[in-house]
Amino acid sequence: MCGIIGYIGHKDILSVLISGLSKLEYRGYDSSGLCVQNSGNLTIIRKCGKIAELSAALSQSSLSGKVGIAHTRWATHGEPSEKNAHPHSDCTKSIALVHNGIIENYHSLKELLEKEGHVIETEVDSEVLVHLIEKFYEGDLEEAVMNALSYTEGTFGIAVMHKDEQRIVAARRGSPLVVGIGENEMFIASDVSAILNHTKRVIYLNDNEIATITNTHCVTKNLGGEILTKKVDEVQWTIDAIEKDGFEHFMLKEIFEQPQSIANTLRGRVVDGKVKLSLNVDVKNVKRIIITACGTSWHSALIGKHFIENLTRIPVEVDYASEFRYRKPIIYPGDIMVAISQSGETADTLAAIKEAKAQGATTLGIVNVVGSTIAREVDGGIYLHAGPEMGVASTKAFTGQLVALLLLALYIKQQKGEKLDNELLEDLQNLPTLVKQTLESSKKIIDLAEDFKDSKDFLYLGRGINFPVALEGALKLKEISYIHAEGYPAAEMKHGPIALVDSHMPVVFIAPHDSTYEKIISNMQEIKARKGKIIAVSDKGAEIQKLADIVFKVPSVRDELSPIINILPLQLLSYYVANVKGLDVDKPRNLAKSVTVE
Ligand code: F6R
Repeated sequence: MCGIIGYIGHKDILSVLISGLSKLEYRGYDSSGLCVQNSGNLTIIRKCGKIAELSAALSQSSLSGKVGIAHTRWATHGEPSEKNAHPHSDCTKSIALVHNGIIENYHSLKELLEKEGHVIETEVDSEVLVHLIEKFYEGDLEEAVMNALSYTEGTFGIAVMHKDEQRIVAARRGSPLVVGIGENEMFIASDVSAILNHTKRVIYLNDNEIATITNTHCVTKNLGGEILTKKVDEVQWTIDAIEKDGFEHFMLKEIFEQPQSIANTLRGRVVDGKVKLSLNVDVKNVKRIIITACGTSWHSALIGKHFIENLTRIPVEVDYASEFRYRKPIIYPGDIMVAISQSGETADTLAAIKEAKAQGATTLGIVNVVGSTIAREVDGGIYLHAGPEMGVASTKAFTGQLVALLLLALYIKQQKGEKLDNELLEDLQNLPTLVKQTLESSKKIIDLAEDFKDSKDFLYLGRGINFPVALEGALKLKEISYIHAEGYPAAEMKHGPIALVDSHMPVVFIAPHDSTYEKIISNMQEIKARKGKIIAVSDKGAEIQKLADIVFKVPSVRDELSPIINILPLQLLSYYVANVKGLDVDKPRNLAKSVTVE
């Protein structure tokens, strides 16, 4: 949700800011803009649309300077337009601000500032904040920002500059910010991907902290003004990980990275027939587990319920984080909440963790981004180590989450003193190879994409542990190809959705040869009788061939691993259909990768 980068240093400021923004574009791409301090003035340039528009507008520019901030926007208040793009500035054009988050008392602040004579030009909540800073400015930007924030309700990650000061002031509450430390240069960014090609030394800001950076120093304080001593971390991600590496899109690269990303999630965690996790939390006596997440991560949670309940017989509840936080949840002593999040920044998931903690639950995180807010909020957890996921549609994080959840289920079983199934552990170790084979053989799905590009609706059906795969397959298709798709438990189809089926409706069945197989075959027959076009993902050959119009053949695996294998052809199907439609796969409309607002 909006990306911020700020820079002070000697490099070509426009290229630092634009290349940083392009790495952050996955966070939002309605509009973008930047501000550079130049001969005691602030020059602000803004454009509607993707970063390429801003970059084109600057291609002939000779603008230079040593201090600058930039922003890519995902609109919350005010339509996506040039006027509403960030940076925003005050009446005297002396201060510029970029903001990620929502100012909740925007209306009352606006009223107060207008009464005092401030002219507020847009409907964007962030604009009131820059006027509030102007109101308090008496020659010290840091002090003015601190004062303004003491009157601000809501969430913010901000970077602010003044025409007369050689520094950037940044502060956060609820929206991530990281300071990057270079040689005679400093950065501020929403996440490390924006600055990784300049430095790997970073300081993560916590909520209610403020950082003031010059080219050589970073001073961090709490919003009460006390100086804080912060740890400098070394980022492990490489620059290659945030490049497309010859692939047309990040999504395709990330799909084909899954053998490696799964191997990374497994690395060092299955040793000599034992599961080794440094959870930091005692799971032996857990009475109940609540898993919470949003979107694709919520689909992982549904599969995690199967893993944990089947292997440990501990009851598991799965909740959308946005529902959990607002419905007076009941938490018992001995409950553990597991929060799943690729980004580690999702606002609802974070709020659900805080709610569970406040009621006495122990919390665990299954998170990809190291050092993210959720990773730091939970009592313990498992990192995916899947590497940065840049495509807006989540792929490798999903399969990494499933592996992490399976490891968690096995670990709980082991801690309860029960013996683990060695064959399952071996199969798990062999999973990256099977994933590679499946992806290789699924490449031919590209030839089918043309046939489906004009479909209006898709139905995805699965049962048991593969029902969430149907949900995830449908989500992947709709978010990047804009084709309406619904995931349903196959047996529920007769209770309503079957009314939609006709010869124009592709119906995707996830049909592994497991205990639900016969039932799925009956469901296929019901669709065939209504002339629906059947696509089956299955490890079974001949019988399915007779019923289905198209079969995506996958290797036979045990039940626990089948969701990880079955989702692969569905990820590719959605990618190829969206691509053949000419859509921007990595930046689907209206979406942002990291949802840091409710
Ligand atoms: C879909 C997708 C989203 C995210 C959701 C949660 O492809 O990426 O549905 O899964 O926004 O995000 P995280 O996992 O970062 O909390």
